[in-house]
Amino acid sequence: MAKIAVLPGDGIGAEIVPPAVEALKAVGRKYGHNFEFTTGLIGGAAYDETGHPLPEETLNLCRESDAVLLGAVGGPRWEHLPVHLRPEVGALLPLRKQLGLYANLRPVRVFPQLAGASSLKTELVSGLDMLIVRELTGGLYFGEKKKEPIAGGYRVIDTLVYTTPEIDRVARLAFELAQKRSGKLTSVDKANVLESSRHWREHVQSLAPEYPRVELSHMYVDNCAMQLVREPKQFDVMVTENMFGDILTDLAAQLTGSIGMLPSASIGGEVALYEPIHGSAPDIAGKDLANPLATILSAAMMLRVTFNMEREAAEIEQAVTAVLEKGYRTGDIMQPGMKQVGTGRMGELVLEQILG
Ligand code: IPM
Ligand code: MG
Repeated sequence: MAKIAVLPGDGIGAEIVPPAVEALKAVGRKYGHNFEFTTGLIGGAAYDETGHPLPEETLNLCRESDAVLLGAVGGPRWEHLPVHLRPEVGALLPLRKQLGLYANLRPVRVFPQLAGASSLKTELVSGLDMLIVRELTGGLYFGEKKKEPIAGGYRVIDTLVYTTPEIDRVARLAFELAQKRSGKLTSVDKANVLESSRHWREHVQSLAPEYPRVELSHMYVDNCAMQLVREPKQFDVMVTENMFGDILTDLAAQLTGSIGMLPSASIGGEVALYEPIHGSAPDIAGKDLANPLATILSAAMMLRVTFNMEREAAEIEQAVTAVLEKGYRTGDIMQPGMKQVGTGRMGELVLEQILG
């Protein structure tokens, strides 16, 4: 029996998670796997119910599970709260940290049916298939913060801290992933300015002799942002620190047509966490407008990465491809001549495809 913790969270989380759970149940039935789902509270929803965005019970549920499926957290309703009680800083970041999830895998793949939905010219993105490895438990997100009153206002501080072991483990993972793919690895930093980046670059470079089949290069993050829109297909595996990875993956997501298409896996600890890279989209929450495909594709990543179920993962991905091929689109990826459907219907279509 495989235990899966389900944390819908806030905003569109409640709409995009159920279709992903249904897809998992369907492949489970089809291939004879027994998945047990337990739902937990996280984010603003948890705060409203329990007074804390990451209740102990939720953390325990995750620790006792084999994998976690998360929707999204946050929204304007909780923005006024003291920062440690806000869904992002009070729940999502500590959850990643507590579970030891130091690497966030964000595959950037352009479905052929959606190449025309990208903001870039079709020939620049069609066939794009890259993987961004984002360091997830260090850097500015977790460094010491301060806000001190001074004459004229405040002095505000965020600290960008990395240790050699933190760089080492995520870099090794990226080298290994690059080895399994095309053998090309780009490490992204700002070594011309930041001490942490200089060490990052030096250490990543020092590992290269251990991975002779990987062709390593380094790129400054500002140039990388430009290269991603200039010629995205020059990249295969990219590794970068937390904040740079956050920014570059939103940019990369748009290359695929919509941020609503990008799944992710956060790994490195005992239990992995799977979540779409987008947020809780409060503006469209509850309106049956959200794209559930990033979460459904995150479920496929769960099958592949945690459960080693390649065939089952591919089944979900093929179902998504087939539904797109039939012309169904949510609003974010809608194009002339296609059939626009809501969140619920898109989920059903994928399910019907799996059930054949
Ligand atoms: C992401 C999100 C989060 C992050 C937010 C919601 C804290 O943007 O997963 O990319 O910055 O890590
Ligand atoms: Mg982000």
